Amino acid sequence: MNRIQFSYYSSTKKFTSCYKKMFSSLQNSKSLNSFQVLSTETPSNPYPHVTHNETFTIEGISYKLDDQTNVSPSILSKLSRKLHLQPHHPLYILRTQIEQHFPHFSYFNTFNPIVTVQKNFDDLGFPKDHPGRSKTDSYYINKQIMLRTHTSAHQLEVFSKMNTKFLISGDVYRRDEIDSSHYPIFHQMEGAQIFNIQNIEQEISKDKKYLISLNSRKIPLRDNSEVNDDTIISTNNPIQSCHPIEQVNFAIQHLKFSLNSLIKKLFINHDENLKIRWIDAYFPFTCPSWEMEIFFKGKWLEICGCGIVDQNILNKAGQSDKIGWAFGLGLERIAMVLFDIPDIRLFWSHDERFLDQFTDFDDNKIIKFHPFSKFPPCIKDISFWLNDQNFHENNFCEIIRNNAEDLVEDVKLIDDFVHPKTKKRSLCYRINYRSMDRTVTNDEINKIQERVREDIEEKLNVTLR
Ligand code: DAH
Repeated sequence: MNRIQFSYYSSTKKFTSCYKKMFSSLQNSKSLNSFQVLSTETPSNPYPHVTHNETFTIEGISYKLDDQTNVSPSILSKLSRKLHLQPHHPLYILRTQIEQHFPHFSYFNTFNPIVTVQKNFDDLGFPKDHPGRSKTDSYYINKQIMLRTHTSAHQLEVFSKMNTKFLISGDVYRRDEIDSSHYPIFHQMEGAQIFNIQNIEQEISKDKKYLISLNSRKIPLRDNSEVNDDTIISTNNPIQSCHPIEQVNFAIQHLKFSLNSLIKKLFINHDENLKIRWIDAYFPFTCPSWEMEIFFKGKWLEICGCGIVDQNILNKAGQSDKIGWAFGLGLERIAMVLFDIPDIRLFWSHDERFLDQFTDFDDNKIIKFHPFSKFPPCIKDISFWLNDQNFHENNFCEIIRNNAEDLVEDVKLIDDFVHPKTKKRSLCYRINYRSMDRTVTNDEINKIQERVREDIEEKLNVTLR
């Protein structure tokens, strides 16, 4: 993945002009009910004056902007949607099905997605130079405050309240490319269960479902699934040196059982046979770590990261006598497969033809989405010379999103060449604009495209061709 550091907000001038524009469009926007800008507008200045001391207010709390700020109004406008809490929404249905699989857990569904950098990264042991911290990958409100990039951001706080088994669900935010399966906001469910180190065997043996699974012939479910797990504990993915091998093995078995049985249950009525595989992974806050993938339409789809909780986290939380596991599941990916939802933007749709499809059924039933006819696309190309090495595709996509919001379906690089004489690099992107609920006009898309062109020239140090 391209992880080049990028700095289009780093000079005061660019930072200021970029926010002037954002703020003025914000004030014209009707949809931002929970987002309010404190402007220091003066008669001589038609725009809100934005300096490094500027603040903005989100849901009643005011935040200082600084040169780390890169969060955009179009992203902030989505903070109030809370799709996982909207009854009958596919993400709500999936969340409640997952909760039913863990009936004795505590559920936390309303944590604020605005968190400190400390919570999102430092508390979990992310190194200072971890690429996930970069401004090209994450949304910052300022140097200390950001939009959480994962629900793991709340692990330490929940462990610190002496919880031993819990699920946390919420919206998470990452800057990303644009296509039918990527959106800068998605939903995750964090699960964790910890046991008394001295007593783990007895505690686990109270889990009846788990005991049944040990004698696999007695599994009461029709088993249309195949689980492939050839991961082994090795120096590449070791156990933590403070963990006794026997106890950690109980925790690993229980983690894998809990997730395999969850996914099997979710997919029990799915028409295709389910293939699950486990692969080694690395996360700063678990060791050993794995990813779970499912096979879908010819490809392995990563749906979950997990592992044995880093003991430092449990020690910090005051639960040093415990050992246990944690996982983070991405809800959209699973919901797209289960409900047959072809485009990730549909989750955000206000269109009744989408939402109504899930309302007439019993709560929590998974039913297949019937696509309504697609409206025609409007395709525009944009090419430019790069004037420095700092171009990052996520920043380019962010500019398109800020101007087109959910009218952009897909952005693809279609040409990349270096001029033989000048050695300058040229890129050409194809932007596919399409609305989910109406036909877009060429005129409106031309206007958007013109603003995209102006913005990328101004902010990305490129020359349009
Ligand atoms: N937070 C990770 C991510 O978003 C997923 C994850 C991995 C969560 C391991 C966990 C875990 O709780 O133990 O990619």
